[in-house]
Amino acid sequence: MLLVVHVLLVAAAVRTPAAHAWGKEGHYMVCKIAESFLTKKASAAVKDLLPGWAGGDLAETCSWPDTQRFRYKWSSPLHFADSPGDCKFDYAKDASEHMLSLLVWLGKQGTATTGTERGTYDRSESLMFLAHFVGDVHQPLHCGHTDDLGGNTIIVHWYRRKSNLHHVWDVNVIETAMKNFYNNDVSTMIQAIQRNITDVWSNEEKQWETCRIRTKTCADKYAEESSKLACKAYEGVQQDSILKDDYFFAALPVVQKRIAQGGVRLAAILNKIFSGNSRLQSS
Ligand SMILES: *[C@@H]1O[C@H](CO)[C@@H](O)[C@H](O)[C@H]1NC(C)=O
Repeated sequence: MLLVVHVLLVAAAVRTPAAHAWGKEGHYMVCKIAESFLTKKASAAVKDLLPGWAGGDLAETCSWPDTQRFRYKWSSPLHFADSPGDCKFDYAKDASEHMLSLLVWLGKQGTATTGTERGTYDRSESLMFLAHFVGDVHQPLHCGHTDDLGGNTIIVHWYRRKSNLHHVWDVNVIETAMKNFYNNDVSTMIQAIQRNITDVWSNEEKQWETCRIRTKTCADKYAEESSKLACKAYEGVQQDSILKDDYFFAALPVVQKRIAQGGVRLAAILNKIFSGNSRLQSS
């Protein structure tokens, strides 16, 4: 744990924190989708590591790191991988890459030993951080521009309500979709995304999982995808822009696909950690 904290502090020193993450719903969906693709072994290992309050459901814990930013100050900047705005992702500066590889490493250590009380606790937190950061790196604006804090300082109107560009991508698009299409029911939205995974995206889905780098998580690849999508998300948006249907209907498919990719990839990572199998379990 000491090594982890040390590396994270070094990583933290090069970033300045901004606000927020996928909202609660976004993280919940990523983790629910991941759960449905876990192997039996991975699923049991995950359940074992979850804190009691999770009620055996990983998805219940996936926003937890957002509540820990004051307790674990080091973790705050790691929710982001903003870049200077050239629409290219700078691998070397990315803190989340460190974070993800460390957490995977932690998972590996854990499978070899039966941890102490304290060790078990740490691995439980590691799991929750990992699930959270895999989600975050798929939110395009988490790989947005540094000078506007990933869109946080771009104040816009989401239909009639005041918001900011970052929040639009974290929360507003999902909220509006839930209200308009999914009966305000998160499981209906999850089912719709899952149908797409097994249906329209079934071919590309195999590539989403592929991560050739054995010792890492391919977080840099996911962040690069996000920063490309972020560039589009910024297009035509200025201070005080009013974003409505046009923007919503362009953003929603992107958001839904990123949630799907986050879920599929989180499952592949967890399957790899806990059952040495990076393939997905078809559900
Ligand atoms: C399903 O896929 C289609 C085609 O890519 C896309 O337009 C739509 O937004 C997707 N729906 C969901 C719920 O992911």
